[in-house]
Amino acid sequence: YTIEAGGVSAICYPPLSAVSQDDAKRAESEEHTTFVVLGASGDLAKKKTFPALFSLFCEGRLPRNFTIVGYARTELSFDDFWERLSPGLSKVGAFFCDKGTLSVRLRGMSHICLFPDKFRERCTYFCGQYGSPDDAARLDKLLQDKHEAKFARANRMYYLALPPTQFADAVRAFKPLAWSQKGWNRVIVEKPFGHDLPSSDKLASELMAVLEEKEVGPTQTYRIDHYLGKEMVLNLMALRFGNVAFTPIWSNHYVANVRITFKEDIGTEGRGGYFDKVGIIRDVMQNHLLQMLTLVAMERPASLLDEDIRDEKVKVLKQIAPIKTEHVVLGQYTRSEDGKTPGYKDDPGVPADSQCPTFATLVMFINNERWAGVPFIMKAGKALEERMAEVRIQLKDVPGGLFGELARNEFVIKVQPNEAVYMKIYGKQPGLSNEVEQTELDLSLHDRFDIDRLPDAYERLILDCVNGDKRNFVRTDELREAWRIFTPMLHTIDGLAGGDAMPVTIHTYPFGSRGPPDSDALVQHFGYKRT
Ligand code: NDP
Ligand code: BG6
Repeated sequence: YTIEAGGVSAICYPPLSAVSQDDAKRAESEEHTTFVVLGASGDLAKKKTFPALFSLFCEGRLPRNFTIVGYARTELSFDDFWERLSPGLSKVGAFFCDKGTLSVRLRGMSHICLFPDKFRERCTYFCGQYGSPDDAARLDKLLQDKHEAKFARANRMYYLALPPTQFADAVRAFKPLAWSQKGWNRVIVEKPFGHDLPSSDKLASELMAVLEEKEVGPTQTYRIDHYLGKEMVLNLMALRFGNVAFTPIWSNHYVANVRITFKEDIGTEGRGGYFDKVGIIRDVMQNHLLQMLTLVAMERPASLLDEDIRDEKVKVLKQIAPIKTEHVVLGQYTRSEDGKTPGYKDDPGVPADSQCPTFATLVMFINNERWAGVPFIMKAGKALEERMAEVRIQLKDVPGGLFGELARNEFVIKVQPNEAVYMKIYGKQPGLSNEVEQTELDLSLHDRFDIDRLPDAYERLILDCVNGDKRNFVRTDELREAWRIFTPMLHTIDGLAGGDAMPVTIHTYPFGSRGPPDSDALVQHFGYKRT
């Protein structure tokens, strides 16, 4: 933080408030960290990876000495590359510059915000092929000569923002040619991790062979599921294991059913070509929603250490039976009722006879003492009436009927938007009335805490990776269990199961609706009562 002469002050990296002891320690140790983003010309890098790195920089959370290399095959000048990133970066920049402006203004000075320029100075663009040993060696030389030479330690993080077909080749070329010899090397791997159990196993063994890893234990692979970096998903552990209040009700004694819902109010928006090979179940249910389910259902871990948490997650996944096809309702969106918004098959790249589900509701059961008999209901869809993700734990009916028929209590963890935890309860109507009415014990984060911004999930997870914290990354055995639960049903839907596999109907639903009515019927069949 510097204040220049002549009445003009400047905010420099790192901001005063963010100089933590950790930063100071890292600086003392003369360590350099390079972030290599592979696939830097692509969509994820632009929308998520670079904005997350920029936010961490503005927060003063990145290591003091760092370089970011955008790596891709497309020939681009640095200015053109920067231009591509600018829509995502400018939003972040505006927020932090505004914040900086305010704090300087409060001290009665004018200023120039240097965050964007200082961040830009740390970034570079490198044009190379993903499986090329020559390009890997060229990158290594650049890093060693230009960025790392004067440091005792040099770490490298490789972020694979690439189609999965490129993962193994890219890692094979980079290790050992572009592997740092004087610090850690970590690889963040993006989803999808395979298409089913066999393909996921194949991808995992290819990566593990190159990285010489075991399933459990030391690893350089950080498999990202960005839902694990969301504030309320992170909060699940704290709520469950930091409060004795929930312990007695958290089982089949009191819980009637658990609903995990993901809704988007947009369609595939030009990504239909990609989506058609994936479908909603692989896109968000086998990964994001199952991670939330696991955190709701797992037992208390022995500690907060990464392997203790992941051991518990694997344990509960092993107790889930494969999903039965008759417990699944599928849907695909059509044009909106007013005819203005196109349907799924209008998306370029989607075949006219596509049977790809853009909506699914499915039910699974956990065969252990705590959860036997409790339906875990997942619902996910694109092109629905709202954008929302939540976990809803519905308790059983109140016995006795003292106040007549009451709706059930529900404990809701609202993941997005408007992050909150609330419990639907009954209380007496205030005043002279003796009636009871439904109300909420409400912990809405933005009302209760003084927060102007919650970090994006990618920020949190990149930072975890810098710190070598793997608790919010997906372990190989965890991934295997997830695919074991979903693969037989997916193979039936794909027509791969053979034998007497029952055909699965794809119901249609208009863009902007609640999804197909058969979904509500399935949910009701499994005991969910609308409150
Ligand atoms: P893109 O399709 O935009 O690909 C990223 C880059 O990879 C491209 O810019 C291109 O760079 C290179 N590339 C694309 N196709 C090939 C190919 N066939 N062979 C070699 N290189 C190729 O992908 P995204 O950025 O959308 O996604 C990257 C990863 O992140 C994927 O695994 C995706 O599933 C995952 N993901 C993406 C999300 C998103 O919102 N986009 C959300 C969650 C996960 P160049 O040609 O310049 O080398
Ligand atoms: C991604 C899916 O993993 O998650 C997308 O591939 C989906 O289809 C996205 O839109 C949703 O993430 P978020 O953070 O916007 O809820």
